[in-house]
Amino acid sequence: MDLFEKCYNYTIAKEVMSAGFYPYFKPMRGNENNMMDDGGQKLIMFGSNNYLGLTSHPKVMEAAMNAIKQYGTSCTGSRFLNGTMHLHEELEHALAQWLGKESALVFSTGMQTNLGVISALCDRNDYVIIDKHAHASLIDGARLSWGKIKRFRHNDTEDLKKVLETIPAESGKLIVVDGVYSMEGDIAPVSEIMAIAASYEAKVLVDDAHATGVLGNGRGTEAYFGINNVDLITSTFSKSFASLGGFVAGKEEIIHYIKHIARSMIFSASLAPPNAASALAALKIMQQEPERIKRVNEIGRRVKAELTAMGFETGHSQTPIVPIIIGDNIITMKAWKFLYENGIFVNAVLAPAVPEGMQLLRTSYMATHTDEQVTRALELFHEMGKQFGLLKNGLEHRVKVADMK
Ligand SMILES: Cc1ncc(COP(=O)(O)O)c(C=O)c1O
Repeated sequence: MDLFEKCYNYTIAKEVMSAGFYPYFKPMRGNENNMMDDGGQKLIMFGSNNYLGLTSHPKVMEAAMNAIKQYGTSCTGSRFLNGTMHLHEELEHALAQWLGKESALVFSTGMQTNLGVISALCDRNDYVIIDKHAHASLIDGARLSWGKIKRFRHNDTEDLKKVLETIPAESGKLIVVDGVYSMEGDIAPVSEIMAIAASYEAKVLVDDAHATGVLGNGRGTEAYFGINNVDLITSTFSKSFASLGGFVAGKEEIIHYIKHIARSMIFSASLAPPNAASALAALKIMQQEPERIKRVNEIGRRVKAELTAMGFETGHSQTPIVPIIIGDNIITMKAWKFLYENGIFVNAVLAPAVPEGMQLLRTSYMATHTDEQVTRALELFHEMGKQFGLLKNGLEHRVKVADMK
């Protein structure tokens, strides 16, 4: 059997391309704050993770350029052997202090952070208990580990308890959730999860990729819930931090262990100097300019309220990620194209990024969007809703989010 057979038979993406509404791998000529340039037209960016609008902040750009001058463009090696800079350590200290944790450890991406942390911690006799909607990097981290995997219904703490009941008391247990779910914009009930974890002697990892810089004065889900007992927080620099990279924060002994065991850290080159420096600069801005955090959340609340009032299905979003749930591949892509042609860039999200039937347009907001830009987007969303039958009492395919757990 020819190994490549599956590739030759993979025709779906090409079919969509020839139908003219393929929404992926769109090349950009330029990216100016909240506008993107595709070479032909300028579109308002309502589909990035640049929540605080810091990718074009002069201080963030300057920090990246200065770091190149001081350290060059790359470390060309792993943190373990020859790729640790003072900049990495400075960033780790600043993050740990900001989050109120004993220690932090920087990885080269958020994906590598989750792969490395979960696989380092969970051995053959351990269990990873993971939310069904958890990010791919968490699922893959669990699969890479030797631990046994159990899944619980999305954000359903009763189901979490039921799953925990089935696990032998003597086994190690790691509960894994996203702080904010990247496609739906809803928040995990982290304080409730911590209380449950305590009664089953389980540890908890929260991936705050979409919560750092956005919730709890920027410090993420723990600060949002007013707690500080989550065992491990992981996050990324590729969103609010306007850079690339990831980190884990927690107790010193646990981070020390991960630092010496996590293969995605030891066997991969360290975070490049401009990325470390820009993440550090972004962190300082988050601390100095809380109005950015306030602004992006205000926009999220406005959009959620107005889209819901128009009759869209917007799920349980409580953040600047507001999904327009459509539940159909073709309509999702056609609706995406309608917005694109009218100067608005959003993300078309199909299965398996979301469960089948939950296909959606992911809209996300930035502190630097103007009220006028948001109004323009809302007008177009409304027009799209009418044209594609997405408003309440519209198409039969509209899904009930509560049924999708
Ligand atoms: C929840 C979540 N975790 C982890 C990641 C991975 O982050 P990175 O882009 O740094 O690899 C992402 C990014 O897509 C994410 O959304």
